[in-house]
Amino acid sequence: MDSQIYGATILLLLLFLTSPITALPKNPTPNSAQINSNSVLVALLDSHYTELSELVEKALLLQTLEQAVANHNITIFAPKNEALERAMDPEFKRFLLEPGNLKSLQKLLLFHIIPGRVGSNHWPKDSSETSLHNTLCKDTHEQLTLHHAKSGVKSVGLANVVRPDDVVRADGLIHGIERLLVPRSVQEDFNSRRSLRSISAVLPEGAPEVDPRTHRLKKPASPVPVGSAPVLPIFAALAPGPSLAPAPAPGPGGPHHHFDGHSQVKDFIQTLLHYGGYNEMADILVNLTSLATEMGKLVSEGYVLTVLAPNDEAMAKLTTDQLSEPGAPEQIMYYHLIPEYQTEESMYNSVRRFGKVRYDTLRLPHKVVAEEADGSVKFGQGDGAAYLFDPDIYTDGRISVQGIDGVLLPAEETTPAAKVSPVAKVAAKPRRETDQHSSLIILTGKLLEVTCRMLGALGQESRLTSCH
Ligand SMILES: *[C@@H]1O[C@H](CO)[C@@H](O)[C@H](O)[C@H]1NC(C)=O
Ligand SMILES: *[C@@H]1O[C@H](CO)[C@@H](O)[C@H](O)[C@H]1NC(C)=O
Repeated sequence: MDSQIYGATILLLLLFLTSPITALPKNPTPNSAQINSNSVLVALLDSHYTELSELVEKALLLQTLEQAVANHNITIFAPKNEALERAMDPEFKRFLLEPGNLKSLQKLLLFHIIPGRVGSNHWPKDSSETSLHNTLCKDTHEQLTLHHAKSGVKSVGLANVVRPDDVVRADGLIHGIERLLVPRSVQEDFNSRRSLRSISAVLPEGAPEVDPRTHRLKKPASPVPVGSAPVLPIFAALAPGPSLAPAPAPGPGGPHHHFDGHSQVKDFIQTLLHYGGYNEMADILVNLTSLATEMGKLVSEGYVLTVLAPNDEAMAKLTTDQLSEPGAPEQIMYYHLIPEYQTEESMYNSVRRFGKVRYDTLRLPHKVVAEEADGSVKFGQGDGAAYLFDPDIYTDGRISVQGIDGVLLPAEETTPAAKVSPVAKVAAKPRRETDQHSSLIILTGKLLEVTCRMLGALGQESRLTSCH
């Protein structure tokens, strides 16, 4: 009780300090003192969500929120402290705290609040349903999606709810969530802000010249220093796959396994799982053991890879048709693997300097086109385009993982002529939400088992609550 009174005092003090003109002296009617010590706002400032409270204060949002609770209930999704401390990209945090970016900070925080009362009992009951809610963030039309996984885990957007109904008051409630919810418009503010900074040139790495007939270097190579890139193109080292070009030559000259590619691949799959919002992609990589093994082998041999990882929302849009054909998931995945080491910065710099950039993929002969759009990197074109969404999720110098918000399909296959193709994009006939979800559920169900087995083997099954 003491702490509540203390919180109320702080709140009143802050309101007084931040709004000296409209505060107490001018309008001492009960209307201006609507905040009582039982308000969810006071509870927030008093709660263990200290990082969020601090940001709300820094964003000068107390008055706005006070008005909001005067009119209606509010539901606050409060990221746990850790999500706003260590887990947060320091550059993004710096960006948010710059005085010139106050608007972005406000948008970000208001995006965590629904103008209404949504208790844990209001989540969709069935895992095939989602419900959409507007937020207090007026500058974005983006809504928050509530979902209830079969495992019982509730989520909002990409964040799992870790403490449902953590704080319940008469005028609103607080759910604890595991990560920050970043609306697209704030991500874009951040990206375009960053692009204004001096752009350091990326030295394009010249590929060694290889005779296509013999798969040998045209010029005698100088002795390969330990740890340097292999001299043959990655395609020569790729295992022959169902539709990959035949791999005519054995792997690059001599085994020089300086890298433990397999554990690096395991590592980045773990990172994807831990990052959150990329479980589908991680699951597929775990399930397609041959793909993960192949990637591990390539990295062991000194090749580098950039993985464009579609997030869960993007994967949810894939249809059963697109996944059920034998080999289809592999084909989709291979198209998301670029045999180069690219980071957000290097890709962004390239598209800024060269306009359109075409990257090879491991799905021969298809390339993926990248260009600058809205201060970010856009892959693919038209309906099938995807934006760089979570940059540099994993970068270890050999494998780079970049989160994107769409599943990419080769351009040829998005044409109507390619309807028979197993991975053709079903753009013409929009499917019902439930169809998409049931396909996702079928996929997830199948994949989860394997994931749990693998994590079990690593002694980490507790990472995935759905394993129990
Ligand atoms: C908030 O929700 C409660 C319970 O639904 C309701 O009794 C109350 O009137 C609401 N308050 C406002 C300000 O709408
Ligand atoms: C995952 O693995 C299972 C068993 O090996 C298989 O039946 C299923 O089709 C795989 N899923 C995908 C998407 O490849």
